Amino acid sequence: MADGADLWPFLERVVLPPGWRIHYQAQVGSTQDLARRADEDGLPSRSVFVADYQTVGRGRRSRRWASPPGAGLLFTALLRHRGWAPQVLTMLGSVALSEAVEGLVGISPGIKWPNDLYIGPRKLAGILAEGRSEGDRHSVFLGIGVNVNTPDATLDALPSATSLSREAGWHIHRGELLVLILEAMDRWLAELESGDDGALWEAWNDRLWGRHQRVMLRDGDVETPCTVLEAERDGSLVVLTASGERRRVLAGELLI
Ligand code: BTN
Repeated sequence: MADGADLWPFLERVVLPPGWRIHYQAQVGSTQDLARRADEDGLPSRSVFVADYQTVGRGRRSRRWASPPGAGLLFTALLRHRGWAPQVLTMLGSVALSEAVEGLVGISPGIKWPNDLYIGPRKLAGILAEGRSEGDRHSVFLGIGVNVNTPDATLDALPSATSLSREAGWHIHRGELLVLILEAMDRWLAELESGDDGALWEAWNDRLWGRHQRVMLRDGDVETPCTVLEAERDGSLVVLTASGERRRVLAGELLI
């Protein structure tokens, strides 16, 4: 089903939680740009932009996000919020995504700090949160890319990546996965709108990837061997360095 039949023909009929609306295009530059333009044009919060293929998909740290046509789930949700800290919104995306994958295939991906989804040592999905604020009007463009039915040849060339179909052992319906993600986001948005981000942070910390595992922490040009301990409510990571120092890390990247 690499022809997009598991996406729009399904999504145009599906019932979503109130307020959510999906906009689909077969091919786009980046769904991030569609969400930003929609925000400028005044489209409502919970507008979601989905594509089968992106010509210039982007990741964090100015990297590219490439996914063969019809193989990935590629979307951006436009969300308006009350000036929540950026890490709260990326926590929302990564927890909702991990829960949705668990609901669909029974595998619970870990959240590799700060917000990649991993199954074992391999990357399943990435999240890119971009935003815009004008006075007290705050918008986030929460972009999610999941390797879903990625061809074997593509995965074999990327040993640090995996796909949902490879992990589950069967072909995955991308539309069903998207609906589960949006339902989970809807639940967490309701929780946040009630003024409480404690449960979201606990869910994020519970799903933290690599706890007690020895990894390398890269911050700029500096690489430090350490062990992952836990994630803090402010989005930072607590690690134990080789010299036995407990260190709180605000920025950086974990290397396996
Ligand atoms: C990362 O791991 O660096 C984040 C990758 C985010 C990719 C998604 S795919 C949908 C949305 N559109 C983009 O151009 N990027 C995000």
